Amino acid sequence: MEVVPNIRREAPNILVTGTPGVGKSTLCQKLSELTGLQWLEISKIAKDNNCLEEFDEVYQCPVLDEDKLLDGLEEVMRTGGNIVDYHSNEFFPERWFDVVFVLRVDNTTLYDRLTARGYTGKKLKDNVDCEIFQTVLDEAKNSYKPEIVHELRSLTPEQLQDNLNQICLWLHQWMADNQNLS
Ligand SMILES: Nc1ncnc2c1ncn2[C@@H]1O[C@H](COP(=O)(O)OP(=O)(O)O)[C@@H](O)[C@H]1O
Ligand SMILES: [Mg+2]
Repeated sequence: MEVVPNIRREAPNILVTGTPGVGKSTLCQKLSELTGLQWLEISKIAKDNNCLEEFDEVYQCPVLDEDKLLDGLEEVMRTGGNIVDYHSNEFFPERWFDVVFVLRVDNTTLYDRLTARGYTGKKLKDNVDCEIFQTVLDEAKNSYKPEIVHELRSLTPEQLQDNLNQICLWLHQWMADNQNLS
């Protein structure tokens, strides 16, 4: 069995997940600016660190080398203070995260956003279906303690602001609860 030293994190790790197009990058970038936490955009990190394997022709996306990606992130996650941004979540170690936010939109909004991004055909339909069937929310609920998984609506700029406020409040509470304990 893997031995994981129990080192207390000085700042929490936050997971932001949801179907492509729900607004993860938009939220994470702003949240990172507001809090000083480090935004880890997993798709970009995977690409920059050669963690992408052969291209999947059916799904029109590269296949992720999960083990290589996770090994490379272990140290920074152990330290804490990260906002992890990815459209899938079950393959991350559960112990990495103090809280999980799942962004949600309705299907017409997602259809418009993904069309604007150039998605068509099966790729467009699969991603809209993924949101309709709340695949990523169920994945998160099955992978993390239900009490740390929060669903956030991500349709409008006002909701983006509400979400930023809510996460900042959560962060302040975490810092208050965890100070002077180490
Ligand atoms: N709360 C929001 N209100 C309106 N538009 C949004 C909101 N969040 C994101 N968007 C827009 O939706 C599109 C997809 O957002 P993005 O952050 O790239 O999603 P993701 O990283 O989840 O794929 C972008 O054009 C972005 O400007
Ligand atoms: Mg993104």
